[in-house]
Amino acid sequence: MTDIRQRKKDHVELTITEGTQYSLSSGFDGYYFNHNALPEVDIDEVSIEATLLGRTFSFPLFISSMTGGYADSGPVNAIIAEFCEANNLPFGVGSQRAMLEDKSLTKTFSVVREKAPNAFICSNIGGVQLIDGFSKDKIKVLINSIEANAVIVHLNPLQELMQPEGDRNFKGVLNGIEQLVKDSDIPVIVKETGAGISKYVAKRLLNAGVEVLDVAGAGGTSWAKVENYRSSNKNPNHSFNDWGISTVECLRQISSLQWERSFGLIASGGIRSAHDIAKALCLGANFTACAQPVIKAISESGLEGVQHFFDQWSNDLKIILTLLGCSSVSELNSSHLLEKTA
Ligand SMILES: Cc1cc2nc3c(=O)[nH]c(=O)nc-3n(C[C@H](O)[C@H](O)[C@H](O)COP(=O)(O)O)c2cc1C
Repeated sequence: MTDIRQRKKDHVELTITEGTQYSLSSGFDGYYFNHNALPEVDIDEVSIEATLLGRTFSFPLFISSMTGGYADSGPVNAIIAEFCEANNLPFGVGSQRAMLEDKSLTKTFSVVREKAPNAFICSNIGGVQLIDGFSKDKIKVLINSIEANAVIVHLNPLQELMQPEGDRNFKGVLNGIEQLVKDSDIPVIVKETGAGISKYVAKRLLNAGVEVLDVAGAGGTSWAKVENYRSSNKNPNHSFNDWGISTVECLRQISSLQWERSFGLIASGGIRSAHDIAKALCLGANFTACAQPVIKAISESGLEGVQHFFDQWSNDLKIILTLLGCSSVSELNSSHLLEKTA
C-alpha cells in the first residue's frame, strides 16, 4: 500500500480511539440553557430543518469530510452516502488528492453519487495542493467524479507539521483559494480540520470569495494526537497535542462578522450531542458538522449504528427546542444560553 493510502487507513483506525480526542474543551460545557418553564410550544410541531447554501436539510448537521482513497474506504463512503440520502443531510468526501495521483481510486469516491443521487455532496482538497494554482481540468476531475454540489478546501498546517512526511510550505494557499473561487462554478467552502479558524483568517477567506466557513475548532479530534500516535512517526511531538482555538472561541470571534457580510458559518470540532448543536446555533452558527462520532458509529455497527445515533440526536434537539420555547432552529439565539460561572 502506498504511503498516502496507508495514512488514510491509519487515520480512521486512530480517530475512533478516545486517546486522539483533545484534552482541551470545545467550550460548549461552559454554557447551559436558559430553561423556559412556559414554552407554549407543541413538540409535534417543532421543526428541526435548517438551511445551508440555499438548500433545506432535515437537520442542522453536515457529515464532515473523512474518507476515500484506499480500498476499504469505498464501503464506508457508501454507508455515509446511503445514510445522508435517506435522512436528507449534506456531507463531504475525504481528501481527493489520492485519486488525482492514482485514477483507480476514483471509485472509492464516486460510489457516493451512486448511493446518494439526490444528496448535497462536497468535494475535498487540501489548501496546500492549491499552491501555485490548480488547473481547471483537475478541478473538473474532482467535481465530476462525485457530481459535487460544492468544493471544500481543508486547511491543516498543524497536522502537516506533525506528520513526518507532511508538507512544510504554506506560502500561496490563500492565492490558490482565491483562484479556485474564480475557476469554480460551484460554491467554495473552507474548513480547518480541528485547530480552528480565527476572525483574522476568516476575514481573509471571505475577502477571497469563500461562501461558507467551517471553523472545525479544537475540542474534538486532535490531529496532532493522531499523527503523534502513528507508528510510522518516530519523533512524535506531544507538546502540540492541544494546540488550537476552541470551537466556541472560533464562533465568538467569527459570528460578529455576520453583521458586516453574508456567509454561511458551520460549527464543528467536538460536536458530540444535540446539546452541542443547539449551543453552537445559539452562538451564531447556521449549521454544525461532525466527523468522529459518525466514523465510530459506522465502525461499530454500520448503517444501523449511525442511524441510531442520528435518531437520538434528532429527538434530543426537538426536546431542547421545546424546553427553550422555540418552534424552529432559526429561533435560537444567545438569549437561550447562560454562561456557567467558575
Ligand atoms: C477518520 C477521519 C478522516 C478525516 N479526513 C479528512 C479529510 O480527508 N479532509 C478533511 O477536510 N477533513 C478530514 N477530517 C477532519 C474532519 O472533517 C473534522 O474537521 C475533524 O475531525 C473535527 O471534527 P470532529 O471533532 O467531529 O472529529 C477527518 C476526520 C476523521 C475522523
